[in-house]
Amino acid sequence: MAQDPGRDYFPPAPVPDRIILNLTERPAERVAVSWRTSPVVARSLVQVALADPSPDLEENARTIAGTSKTLLTDLNGARFHSAVMDSLRPATQYAYRVGDSTHWSEWNHFTTAAMDAAPFSFLYFGDAQNDLKSLWSRAIRGAYARMPDADFLLHAGDLINRSTRDHEWGEWFYAGGWIHAVTPAIATPGNHEYGRDTAGIPELSPHWRPTFALPENGPAGFAETAYSIDYQGARIISLDSPAFLYDSTAADAQVAWLEGLLAENPNPWTIVFMHHPVFSSKLGRDNEELRTRLEPLFVRYGVDLVLQGHDHTYGRGTNLNVGEGTRPTVDGPIYVVSVSGPKMYDAGLADWMDRAASNTQLYQLVSVSGDSLEYTAYTVTGERYDAFSLYRQPGGGPNVYVDRAPEETPERLDLPPRYERNYSDEQREEYRNRFEAYRTRKRGGGPD
Ligand SMILES: [Fe+2]
Repeated sequence: MAQDPGRDYFPPAPVPDRIILNLTERPAERVAVSWRTSPVVARSLVQVALADPSPDLEENARTIAGTSKTLLTDLNGARFHSAVMDSLRPATQYAYRVGDSTHWSEWNHFTTAAMDAAPFSFLYFGDAQNDLKSLWSRAIRGAYARMPDADFLLHAGDLINRSTRDHEWGEWFYAGGWIHAVTPAIATPGNHEYGRDTAGIPELSPHWRPTFALPENGPAGFAETAYSIDYQGARIISLDSPAFLYDSTAADAQVAWLEGLLAENPNPWTIVFMHHPVFSSKLGRDNEELRTRLEPLFVRYGVDLVLQGHDHTYGRGTNLNVGEGTRPTVDGPIYVVSVSGPKMYDAGLADWMDRAASNTQLYQLVSVSGDSLEYTAYTVTGERYDAFSLYRQPGGGPNVYVDRAPEETPERLDLPPRYERNYSDEQREEYRNRFEAYRTRKRGGGPD
């Protein structure tokens, strides 16, 4: 690829970079780490020790050998390394570094999950995708600055724009910097993590598996893309929605696997994340196949929350009837679509949405404690933009769903400038009508 002198290319070096922690399927005992070096680095070593205020970490460290593979990217050859730090104690802080015994990273800290149900929180990001260095940096850094104690980061797909462009992955890591090395991540692939092979068949980004070490406990053929993790009382499930939509056998395999996971779930909470939304937040989009196949399972088995991306707008709500009174209930999942990067579409303002945003970069904090789940969305400038609570009822039954969207914060529903410029008069009129109908419904007047 011709190099643009105005762009950063992030070449690999003997010193590790792109260091990222991932949750494993046993997050109380094992944490995975991946990193990158120049191709000449043959050894993949991790040193891990109980974290201690004394600087004597090396003497007390255990050395673990990892594995590596060379990846030839559009820009360079690089060695991608991964290792699993195993036999860890639950709810314990560790220090680790990665390297080859000549070159080492700094020592970073992380904390393992508790073995059983316990309060936890995580940060959820919709599509990062474009201008990662320029404009996604403020999203991930703002989120971390607000909630440095979050237990993990959840990326809902389209982390990058072109599945084979190394500099985009370089920008993604530049934006997150050492945050990736201290807070474990989970990620689900979006359509932009898929390219096409020479025969035109969808193909996962060659960077995905070398870059991450995500669980491989999903259906056959979905290593590191469809998987589940039981985290302190919550079953967290990644579905590979691009594969689901490309191919009916990929959909069938995931549906059968998902049903098994949901039917035999000892965890009180269930959270599903995937790239494509079950209910769209962008005007004119509809993933009918996801909706018809997944929503009945989500409702039947009491999935609490579904976190998604893809539509480059913000929407939060439920398609189901919400009970009346001070403790309204909902007998199925709350759906969220969000966007953390700068690419913006026009909001659909559909009937399922209780809160919307257009042309706004956001991140979200989800906190689970006992029978309550608290959700807050922040704009990247740190303003509390949306919130709700879910409460599990003693003895089961539908969740209590309390809308806590801040009344003092007006909804940001102006069209992105590109749409403002390019809309025809007819489209503008249609948007205005939709906007009015949405406003009327939210004021309690009802659209019908
Ligand atoms: Fe997408």
